[in-house]
Amino acid sequence: MSAAVKELRVSTGISGLDKMLKGGLIPGRPYVLCGTTGSGRTTLGVQFLQEGAKQGERVLLVAIDEPPAEIRGNVRYLGWDVGKIRILDVHPTAKAYSKKVSMVEVAAQRSVGSLREARDDARTEAMKQASPDLSAQSLQLMLKQEFKETRYSRVVIDSLTTLKRLSGDMDVDMGIMSLLRFLSESSVTCLVITDVPDATAVEPEIFVSRGEIRLHRLMTGTKIERCITIEKMRGSQHDTVPRPVAIAKEGLEVAAGKKVPKAALTMLQGVPGGPR
Ligand SMILES: Nc1ncnc2c1ncn2[C@@H]1O[C@H](COP(=O)(O)OP(=O)(O)OP(=O)(O)O)[C@@H](O)[C@H]1O
Ligand SMILES: [Mg+2]
Repeated sequence: MSAAVKELRVSTGISGLDKMLKGGLIPGRPYVLCGTTGSGRTTLGVQFLQEGAKQGERVLLVAIDEPPAEIRGNVRYLGWDVGKIRILDVHPTAKAYSKKVSMVEVAAQRSVGSLREARDDARTEAMKQASPDLSAQSLQLMLKQEFKETRYSRVVIDSLTTLKRLSGDMDVDMGIMSLLRFLSESSVTCLVITDVPDATAVEPEIFVSRGEIRLHRLMTGTKIERCITIEKMRGSQHDTVPRPVAIAKEGLEVAAGKKVPKAALTMLQGVPGGPR
């Protein structure tokens, strides 16, 4: 690969994944990182930020799924210096957001009734009540404030699925589209973590994002097999073959030159929206 091409790419911090991406991610764009629960999305996200921090970049993790202390604890065993990663705590247990534009202020602009729509999922409801003011719109305002103060190169949102669940916006999709457009205009390289998209629904983030990386956690017989696929990557060639993933002491490892075991491949092919 020529030096000029290399310069245009952002390393994910995982050499095997960079190989699959033909050098890394195209900078300044939002990407979807999706997968089933426990597939390694948060680990990959932190690894991506860690790589930026290592290169002296400013990096931000928007923590919605887990409180920052838990994230720090979970990745500390990897020996990573997570201290260099700024964590924006928007987890529902966050007591308050101390910036000038607070979630409370943002929420005050909208009707409380619309924030408390009844939903089936009791956990979601409990989280919503703990954080009734969290939405794509309020997050966008928070990030706007953050970006004014700090020039970030990399951002991870963990996760958009939880944000959607908690969001009281009447039109969640519009809020998500606007957030992604804002991220794009901000020229940060962003990983937006989501659950595996519903094959029957048109998820706005999949539509708008410049690429989609998917982590798979498959139970084959008595064993968990992990693998990774690149579902789409606008403006770039990429590996179209599923590759094995291991979560080791140093984090996620992608075996770019290897094929996934047959049993895992068979399962993958049975998954709606599986490898194309
Ligand atoms: N040292 C390790 N060695 C092997 N596997 C590990 C190690 N540490 C974590 N794991 C695996 O990685 C998984 C955690 O990955 P991670 O939290 O990044 O996934 P996730 O997709 O973000 O999941 P969640 O749905 O919980 O958000 C654990 O469930 C465990 O199976
Ligand atoms: Mg996670």
